[in-house]
Amino acid sequence: MPEQITITLTALRRKAEDIRAELSLDQAPPAELTTKYLGKKGKFNELAKDIRLVAPDDRKEAGQILNELKESLEKQINKLTLEQDLAPEWTDMTIPGQPPKLGHIHPVSQAMEEVTRIFERIGFTRVRYQEIDWDHYVFEALNMPPNHPARDEWETFFVDAPIDKKFGKVVLTTHTSNGQVREMERLNSQPPIRMINIGRCYRRQQDATHTQMFHQFEGLVVDKGITIQNLKGTLDYFAQEFYGPGTKSRIRPFHFQFTEPSFEVDFSCHICHGTGLVDGKDETGKPAKVKCKFCKSGWHEVGGAGMVHPNVLKAGGIDPDEYTGFAFGWGVERTYTLKPGLNIDDIRLFYSGEMRFLEQF
Ligand code: PHE
Repeated sequence: MPEQITITLTALRRKAEDIRAELSLDQAPPAELTTKYLGKKGKFNELAKDIRLVAPDDRKEAGQILNELKESLEKQINKLTLEQDLAPEWTDMTIPGQPPKLGHIHPVSQAMEEVTRIFERIGFTRVRYQEIDWDHYVFEALNMPPNHPARDEWETFFVDAPIDKKFGKVVLTTHTSNGQVREMERLNSQPPIRMINIGRCYRRQQDATHTQMFHQFEGLVVDKGITIQNLKGTLDYFAQEFYGPGTKSRIRPFHFQFTEPSFEVDFSCHICHGTGLVDGKDETGKPAKVKCKFCKSGWHEVGGAGMVHPNVLKAGGIDPDEYTGFAFGWGVERTYTLKPGLNIDDIRLFYSGEMRFLEQF
C-alpha cells in the first residue's frame, strides 16, 4: 500500500517560514532559544519529522528546505547571543577613560643622543653612514688589503651579492670605521674634519657582552698639526661629560691596521675611582679595602683609538705630509652599561623587548 501523502512542499515551506517568523519575534534569552528551536524536542526537529509525509520525489527538495531553515535559525540565534555578550548591562559614563600607554625613547637611542650632544658641543658633526657597505670602505681603504690577517678580528657577515671590481664584496659593517674614508670623500678630501659617526654594526658573536647587532660611535678629526694630545684631551672631555666629573681616560698601546700608533682606551671606574679597591671586610670580618667587583682593576676597557694611518688618509685623498688626524671608536651599548647606577650585566637585555627592563629608563 502506498504511503499516505499528506504534506506538499508548499505547506512545508510555509511551516518553515512560520518558525522563522516566530523566532524573530521571540523575546526569550538566547540560551533558551537554542533549546526551544534547535533542541532535541525543539521546533525544528518537530518539523523535520514531517519529511516522512512528503512525496518521495519531493524529498530531496524538502531536505533542502529543512537545511536552509536550520542554518538560518542557527545564524539568528548566534547573532542574538553575540549581541547579548557585547551589550553591557549598565554603563557608568563617569568612569575616567583608560589613558593609552605612552612609549619612550629606547635606552640605546637615548645614549646615542647624549653622545651626539657631547661631541656637537666641541664642534663635531654627527653623520651616519650605510650599515651595509663595500669591503673597500670597511677593510681595504683602512689599510687592510684582501687576505690581510688583521681582517680576522672582525667576525664578518658577508652579503650574498655580486662582487664589484673596484669595491669588492658587500658586507654588513663590522665597525663604524667605514665612515672614515666616506667622510673624507664627502668633504672632497678637504680638512678640517670633525666627524662623529654613530651607526649599527654586525659581528658573528653573541654572549652577555656581545649582540650580533650593536651600535658604535666613531670619532674622526683630521687637520694640520693634530697630535695624540688632542686625542687624549677629547677622550678626557668625553669621560667627564658622559660619566661625570673626575672620570679619567687612559690609553694603552695596541694594534689596529688603520691607526699608527694605536691604543686601547680605558675609563676610570666611578665606584672605586680608578683604585680597584673599595671599603669592605676581610676574612675575619674587620673593615678592610677589598677588590672592586665592578671593574676588578680600577679601569673599564671601552674601545680603540689611534692616530689615523697615512694610508687611510691617502685612501681618502688627503696628503699625509700635510695633515694628521686621530680616530676612536667603540660600542654604544657597552659604554652605556658602565654609567654610574646602571649596573647592567647583560647587554642582550636591550634587545629582548622585555618591558620590565626597558620601562626603567
Ligand atoms: N674600529 C675599531 C673596532 O671596532 C675601533 C677603532 C676605531 C680603533 C677608530 C681605532 C680607531 O674595534
